Amino acid sequence: MIYSRISGTGSYLPERVVTNADLEKVVDTTDEWIRTRTGIERRHLAREGETTLDLAEKAARRALEAANVAPGDIDFIAFGTTTPDLIFPNCGVMLQERLGCLGSPAFSVETACASFMYALSIADKYVRCGESKRALVIGAETLSRITDWSDRTTAVLFADGAGAVVLEASDAPGILSTHLHADGRYQEMLYCKGGVSRGLAEKPAIVMAGKEVFKIAVTKLGAVVDETLAANGLERSAIDWLVPHQANIRIIQATAAKLDMPLEKVIVTVQDHGNTSAASVPLALDAGVRDGRIKRGELLLLEAFGGGFTWGSALVRF
Ligand code: ACO
Repeated sequence: MIYSRISGTGSYLPERVVTNADLEKVVDTTDEWIRTRTGIERRHLAREGETTLDLAEKAARRALEAANVAPGDIDFIAFGTTTPDLIFPNCGVMLQERLGCLGSPAFSVETACASFMYALSIADKYVRCGESKRALVIGAETLSRITDWSDRTTAVLFADGAGAVVLEASDAPGILSTHLHADGRYQEMLYCKGGVSRGLAEKPAIVMAGKEVFKIAVTKLGAVVDETLAANGLERSAIDWLVPHQANIRIIQATAAKLDMPLEKVIVTVQDHGNTSAASVPLALDAGVRDGRIKRGELLLLEAFGGGFTWGSALVRF
């Protein structure tokens, strides 16, 4: 039996740090409101001219180095993003060119904050069926480009960054299962106005019914946690680390409570990164790996929830 195993992780954050105090000068908000409602204290924003692909390339090279894999040996690229450099070609292809692993499949997956979970699930299937030996999975965003900086309900939440993992074929697990979901009835609650076929808005911008999104996110993430445990015949206590989507500390706390997990067993980066959408889970994973908390052999539960709605999980023996 072939499994896919995460052999390396990497991430990259733009150098520019914007604190809550900085945002107080941009919109009618306070550091206290942002911290108590979301847990966010600061975030990284790309400088002018710095693109999603630029961030992704740096994260990818770090993941490749950690995995000890040469860029040219990658045979599959799944790139999760909602903020691609161009409408086409897709960011996966552009990254392939930069890394020099030409010829093999390279594509982008656009399922908002769940894009990395979807990309990981697809890459896992290709490795498991033997068609890919070494896949690169990316989550990267420049959400600052689709943020309405005059809307205090969203401007304080979103940020930029990139995370990456290398998946390699292995005799031992690896990714034990992935579970993906979508429910298109909720499109209006969280979307980016402006589109190609509908006509480009003057300026694309995220629109969100925060309170409603919050409630449904907590319910759906709780359900996908249960589904993941049941599918693998595991008790909640089996999970060593929860690596959640970093949208809001209160959503993270609710999911941890569902797992009966103390926050010390949850990788939390939302205070430093804000909501980086597709990049959020691989950024948190890389943070936990590089600071030595997550160790080889441990059992990780990754999960994310985003616009659509779309959501998903992955159970990973690291
Ligand atoms: N600063 C100060 N006050 C604010 C701000 C702000 N930045 N934003 C809103 N307020 C005000 C509101 O106007 C409201 O005032 P009112 O009571 O006078 O009407 C009050 O604060 C409360 O607003 P709520 O929206 O009810 O605040 P809530 O506690 O729900 O927190 C938040 C808002 C943080 C957005 C929360 O609902 C949330 O995190 N939602 C989920 C976000 C999420 O998970 N998104 C999914 C992924 S994102 C993706 O897919 C791209």
